[in-house]
Amino acid sequence: MINKRVLSGIQPTGNLHLGNYLGAIKNFVSMQNDYECYYMLADLHAITVKTEPKVLRENILNTAASFLAAGLDTKKNVIFCQSNVSSHTHLSWILNCIARVGWLNRMTQFKEKAGSNKEKASVGLYTYPILMSADILIYKATHVPVGDDQKQHLELCRDIATKFNNDYDNNYFILPEPIIPKFVSRVMSLRDGTKKMSKSDESDLSRINLTDTKDQIIQKIKKAKTDNDPIDEKIFDEKSKRYEAQNLIKIYSNLNSETPDKVLNNFNGKTFSDFKKYLSDLLIEKISPISEKIKKYRSDDKELINLLTIGSEKANNNAEKTMLEIKKIVGLV
Ligand code: TRP
Repeated sequence: MINKRVLSGIQPTGNLHLGNYLGAIKNFVSMQNDYECYYMLADLHAITVKTEPKVLRENILNTAASFLAAGLDTKKNVIFCQSNVSSHTHLSWILNCIARVGWLNRMTQFKEKAGSNKEKASVGLYTYPILMSADILIYKATHVPVGDDQKQHLELCRDIATKFNNDYDNNYFILPEPIIPKFVSRVMSLRDGTKKMSKSDESDLSRINLTDTKDQIIQKIKKAKTDNDPIDEKIFDEKSKRYEAQNLIKIYSNLNSETPDKVLNNFNGKTFSDFKKYLSDLLIEKISPISEKIKKYRSDDKELINLLTIGSEKANNNAEKTMLEIKKIVGLV
């Protein structure tokens, strides 16, 4: 009997930053005691955009090290690379034959990522939400923690699962539910409060990387854009337009696991230059131990790869069982 099973994934496309930590990994850690969890490095999703092999390898190992350093336990969870479990791509093909072209054409992320040059985008970038659906359905996951940007993909996954059930076998797939993080799901750039914190932003000052030193954290918070008004309870009013101020308050609130209102109360009347000192202290307290551990995990890549191999074996055992059932349902011999 399956009760609660979580699957989620992160693309290893660069060094992880505070946005990935607060938006995803911190929640992964908090779920590991209550759910059976599968956490995946979506390396096949990462190659939908051309990546140098050496860079890809580094990104995979850094992301794996970051998962473990942030507190994901390989004994409690299945932590693995997508490309090491071939059932994902096998199921993905079958789902390609279930999903409709019209459904994929509605995916807003493809439109954003492909931009004006749609004809030159890889086919993989276009069908990426189908592989993502296979990632989820191959484990019959009941819950999928995702940020805002992946909600539409999860809806697509539910549509695909529903059509599979209708076409072949009622009730075979469980429809997965999204889990959207409580406080912030979006950490914004430190330089522009209207843009998401991103690995691809040209300015390193726009983000806190999980590998930043204490001095880098202090400098980046000092230079973070704010306004000259003190902290007050109206910061989150729609009309205030104090996007950078909102972002810093939300970061503090999430790191300290308290509501933004509580933070506003505690710092009411203070200037942002005062608040920034508290914020960098809190960041150093929470992030520096993680960056130390990332270094430690990266000092022994053989062991790191070994941990991923053990995870892939566990994932494989489970995924192969589902794949056999699906082949039979579809009529493949
Ligand atoms: N597409 C997700 C992202 O870019 C990563 C991902 C791949 C994922 N497969 C998944 C997330 C399955 C949740 C479930 O962030």
